[in-house]
Parts: sequence; structure tokens; C-alpha cells
Amino acid sequence: MRFVKSAALAALAAGAVFVVGWQVHAETNRVRFPDSLDQLVHYTTVRRGNVTEHIMTTPEAMEAVKSRQPIPAGAHFVLVDYRDGELYRYFVMEKGEGFGADYDERRRTADWQFQWFWPDKSVNMDENTARCQSCHRSQADSDFLYTADRIPSFTGTPVE
Ligand code: HEC
Repeated sequence: MRFVKSAALAALAAGAVFVVGWQVHAETNRVRFPDSLDQLVHYTTVRRGNVTEHIMTTPEAMEAVKSRQPIPAGAHFVLVDYRDGELYRYFVMEKGEGFGADYDERRRTADWQFQWFWPDKSVNMDENTARCQSCHRSQADSDFLYTADRIPSFTGTPVE
């Protein structure tokens, strides 16, 4: 009996390690790199030291934010990150029907998922996108976005 119990506990512990390990490891998810960045609107640029970020989204998301409507499923936000003028990486957020169901409540960012892509558009498998979500959750009041408040003042030149 004692043996059975400890074996069961060991199995449980191993399972717990597995579940925790699974949560902290990098992953692919439902985010897809947009078909063409040319179809996105580059609405703001953020500069910090040697870092330059071009932030862009779909025309549909631009319209939704301007008219204070929910951003529609299918929207991408892309942060193109340059270091000393060289493309370094892409940060992508994608909203999709049911995307939020992949995560539990503590991690969920509504129907947004996040991904880090290298310049060749492969996924950075060393990144755990729970980190992205945990930071962006502070922006829940603006649909998990940091720079959406710059969209209404965009008139053709990226807002800085
Ligand atoms: C420590 C906090 C933090 C983490 C972690 C973080 N972000 Fe962000 N993110 C920001 C801030 C702040 C901005 C606004 C731009 C800036 O100031 O650089 C931003 C902007 C963005 C944008 C442009 C849309 C917007 O919200 O304005 C995308 C896309 C984005 N992040 C994706 C990601 C992805 C993907 C990851 C994980 C690989 C990630 N972020 C991790 C803080 C964070």
C-alpha cells in the first residue's frame, strides 16, 4: 500500500514537472508571419539608443482603433526591430478566433498570441512567449497594445 502510494505520488510529481516544464519552454503557436509586411501600415517608430522599432498593423485594425471598435480577428501587429540599422528580429502579435482558449486565465491575453521571428522568419525557439503575454497584460485596457494610442494621430507619417 505504502509502495503504491509513493509510486502514485512519484508519478504525480513527474507529471507536475512535465506540465511546468511544458509551460516554460519555447513553443510554436498559432501566430503566422504576415504574408506581406507591405500590406501593413507603419504607424509609429520608437527609438531607444541603437534600437529602432517600426511598428505596423493592418488597415482594418487601424480603422477599428480610430473608430473605437474592437480589433477584428485576423489582425497582425508587427514590431520590426533594427539594431544599428540592421534588421535584428520581428515581434508579432496576431489576434485570431479562439486563440485565447490555448492558455489558462492567468496567461491569456484575450485572443492575442505572440511570437518572435528571426530575420529569416524562423521562430526563436529559445523564447517563451508567456513573457510577452505577462508584460502586455498590463495593457489589457488598450487591447494588450502599448502603442495603439498613437494610431488616431497617424496621418501618413509614422508618429514618433
Ligand atoms: C518587458 C515588457 C515587454 C515584453 C516582455 C514584451 N513586450 Fe512587446 N512591447 C512592450 C512595449 C513597452 C512596447 C511599445 C514599444 C516600445 O516601447 O518599445 C511593445 C510593443 C510591442 C508590439 C507593437 C504593438 C504594441 O503593443 O504597441 C508588438 C507586436 C510586441 N510588443 C510584441 C511582443 C512580443 C512578440 C514579445 C515577446 C517575444 C513582447 N512583445 C515582449 C513591452 C514588452
